[in-house]
Amino acid sequence: MSHRIESVAIDGPASSGKSTLAREVAHHLGFVFVDTGSLYRTVALALLSDQNSPFNEENPKIQKTLSNLNISVIPSPSGARITMSGLDVTTHLRTEEVGAVASRISAWPSVRKALFDLQRSMALKGKIVMDGRDIGTVIMPEARLKIFLEADPTVRARRRVDDLRQRGIHASYETVLADILERDRRDRERPIAPLVAAKDALHLDTTHLTIDEAVRWIVDRY
Ligand code: DC
Repeated sequence: MSHRIESVAIDGPASSGKSTLAREVAHHLGFVFVDTGSLYRTVALALLSDQNSPFNEENPKIQKTLSNLNISVIPSPSGARITMSGLDVTTHLRTEEVGAVASRISAWPSVRKALFDLQRSMALKGKIVMDGRDIGTVIMPEARLKIFLEADPTVRARRRVDDLRQRGIHASYETVLADILERDRRDRERPIAPLVAAKDALHLDTTHLTIDEAVRWIVDRY
């Protein structure tokens, strides 16, 4: 590809450590960091607060909410603040309920379309680390460095249980593992922008790596 953007794209499955690594890599490179999962979560929050029924893409009420979305991102090295209609929703996005809805609606073409321009305009500014599922393939194919993360699902489930526990939420390992496998399946099998490595992405398996080792691996390749 002729025109490169000075930036890093990090894609990978649920709980593979994308955001933690992206934040640290951004810090090392002096770039801003945007976790694009937060954008899908923001749309999920908008749809949840509307009490939409039936919950499907064809529902005109849902389409109206999607066309009226007013999402802004204020990027920063430690992670973006997200506002919806002027209200900062950043701290409301990381619940299991919002994550479950985000996983479903991220397969809807209208949702992906609604978020494309916002992500693309941030990508084109450069000096950014973006993480998600389709950053290297769809949002920022010109990124100078593309990383595709992998990690054993059992290790991802264990990390997620620990992460939830630190936030005071108890979740059983079996439930979390089942949820991770289901989200992987949905992300990989959806027809539009599925989770797939870009042809020129470097693969990094973090199963046996510490965060510092993985960050070093990525920064050394930039
Ligand atoms: O990474 P996360 O769990 O915060 O993402 C929430 C959901 O959004 C996840 O189920 C997949 C989806 N997603 C996506 O489809 N494309 C992206 N670039 C980022 C997230």
